[in-house]
Order: sequence, then structure tokens, then C-alpha cells
Amino acid sequence: MKAIVCRELGPPEKLVFEEVPEPPMGPGQVRIAVQGAGVNFPDTLIIQGKYQMKAAPPFTPGAEVAGTVLAVGERVKHVKVGDHVAALVPVGGFAEQVVASGDSVMPLPAGMDPVIAGGFPLAYGTSLHALKQRGQLKPGETLLVLGAAGGVGLSAVQIGKLMGARVIAAASSADKLALCKAHGADELVDYSKESLKEAVKKLTRTQGADVIYDPVGGELAQDCLSAINWNGRYLVIGFAAGTIPEIATNRLLLKGASAVGVFWGAFVAREPKVSQENFEQLFGWVASGQLKPYVSKIYPLSQGAQALRDMLERKVTGKIVLKA
Ligand SMILES: NC(=O)c1ccc[n+]([C@@H]2O[C@H](COP(=O)([O-])OP(=O)(O)OC[C@H]3O[C@@H](n4cnc5c(N)ncnc54)[C@H](OP(=O)(O)O)[C@@H]3O)[C@@H](O)[C@H]2O)c1
Repeated sequence: MKAIVCRELGPPEKLVFEEVPEPPMGPGQVRIAVQGAGVNFPDTLIIQGKYQMKAAPPFTPGAEVAGTVLAVGERVKHVKVGDHVAALVPVGGFAEQVVASGDSVMPLPAGMDPVIAGGFPLAYGTSLHALKQRGQLKPGETLLVLGAAGGVGLSAVQIGKLMGARVIAAASSADKLALCKAHGADELVDYSKESLKEAVKKLTRTQGADVIYDPVGGELAQDCLSAINWNGRYLVIGFAAGTIPEIATNRLLLKGASAVGVFWGAFVAREPKVSQENFEQLFGWVASGQLKPYVSKIYPLSQGAQALRDMLERKVTGKIVLKA
């Protein structure tokens, strides 16, 4: 089978697209013919050895896939050959086939395109967990999303609206904000042109946002913490800007606010039942047409390195997917 392989740690240009052996399968596992593999920011880090989870070369990056079941281990009962499924894998997704642990394999709702579904579990799973279990977002509250046109950001805009929040989308260009608007954002802030703090204060009549979803970090984090409401929840999602912010804890004190860590991968491993319920809710929204996962670009599998390069250069909106 063909796969993208990281033979030495480094930038995307070091990746190779080559023939590799099919992975072996055990009794608790499922073999999947990959149709779509989601590309995520951590993929750009893991190939450089900069992610919290390390992988030793040679390895194939890629943490989420969807496709058709080719074979099922004897201990797996909930899916069968021919089913359309999504799955999470530690690595190995950017390939024509993956072998996934049965626990991480989820049947897709009828009619969901497996290419699009390949980019669904990680971003949408993260955002529902962040807003529901960690942020305790309530209908009528104001949600501020940074990096709102990115993979996890746009999913947070969509899910925030479905949970009944007023959503302020913040991003770095008019085009990115137009995309957020098209996906339901109520208010828009271009933080490349205006102060995030001042804009959010203005939009909330100086109260600030109740929940802040921050996958960007860096200086923006400091700025938005000055625009958090009483009892606010600042959700630490990630550091796409490349700098881990230091939080001025007096901001939390003054607003009776909380800074809340979100580590979706660990949540899935530690609380599998709650994670499964989250996916039932997400796939239910997809099946009823209330949630339309957005994929801005589909690359052929052979162009995985280019996809990662585009993500690093901040050119990507919504999700991008490799089509195997
Ligand atoms: N905590 C968790 O469990 C969890 C789960 C999934 C992902 N994450 C993290 O969430 C972050 C975003 O992931 P993603 O897959 O959504 O990435 P993405 O699609 O590339 O989105 C990231 C956004 O961050 C903004 N950004 C600001 N500075 C940037 C820079 N120097 N390089 C790239 N983007 C920059 C960009 O928006 P603007 O141009 O509009 O600023 C971009 O749209 C990553 O740090 C990832 O590790 C965390």
C-alpha cells in the first residue's frame, strides 16, 4: 500500500510518499481502507519531534481517518466488513490502509461522506468536549472563539451555535471571518486590525465573554483575558501561535474566572463512555442536518506534505483532508 512516511524528523518537505507493507492486525482491531484522512495541527509538530507525543521514525503521521471496513478482529463486535466508519489512531492515518483499535472505531451515520468524515472526529470531538464538559457553556452565554476559521476553531463556532450561545468569532483576515459568518458566527473581530480586548468589550457592553475558546495562545491570550466576564471560563486548547502564554492570575481573581485545560485525547482514553456519548450527539447533529462539517480542501494522499506546509503557513481554513 502507499503511505506518507516520516523517515527523519523535520519539516513537511522531508516526508516521502512510498510503498510500505500493510500493517498487521490483531484480534481487537479493525482494518480500514482509508478514504479520507484528516490533517491536524499536531501532525505538523509530530513530524518535527515538537509535539507532546513523540513518534520514532520511520512512521506515518495522521491521527484520524474514515473509510470502509476491510477486516474485523474476532473480539470486535460493533462493526462488520463493508461498514463506513471513522477511527482515531495514534499515528498511521496518512495511508491507504490503517489498523485501528476496535474501541476507537465508530460507525458513520447513513449518508455521511467518508472523505469528509475523515476530518471530523478530532476537531469536532475536541470542541464539544471543550464547550460541554470543560466550559459548561449555557444557552444565552457569549462564546469568544480565537483562530475561529481554523480546524478546531470553526467547529467551536458551529457547536457553540448549536448549544445556544452568542458566538464572537475572532480571526486574522476578512476572508476567514466571512467563513465564520457563513457558519453561524454572530459577531466578528479581525485581530490583525483591531484590539481583541477592546472589540470584545464593545460587543459585550464591557461585560466580556463568558467562555473563551483559545487554540492560538501567544499574546492574544493575554489580550482576551482582559475581556472575560464574571465567572468566565478560559479554555486552553492549544498554541498555534507557537508561544505558550503566561496567564496573569490577577485577571482570574478579579473576574472570579477559571482557566480550564482541555486535553481531548486524554479525555477519550480516560472517560470513554462520556466521549462515546459526545460522538452520539455529534453524529446525531450530522444525521439531522443541523451540523455540516466543513472541509475547505481535499488533497490527494500523495500531496500530504503540501497539506502540512499549507497548514504551517496559516493558509488553511476549516478542515483539510487527504483523499486516499
Ligand atoms: N487541546 C486539545 O485536545 C486539542 C485538540 C486538537 C487541536 N488542538 C490544538 O489546537 C490548535 C489548532 O489546531 P487546528 O488543527 O485547528 O489548526 P489550524 O486549522 O491550523 O488552526 C489554527 C489557527 O490558529 C491561528 N494561528 C495563529 N498563529 C498561527 C501560526 N503561527 N501558525 C498557524 N496558525 C496560527 C490561525 O488563525 P488566524 O490566522 O485567524 O489567527 C489558524 O486558523 C493546535 O495548537 C492544536 O495542537 C488541541
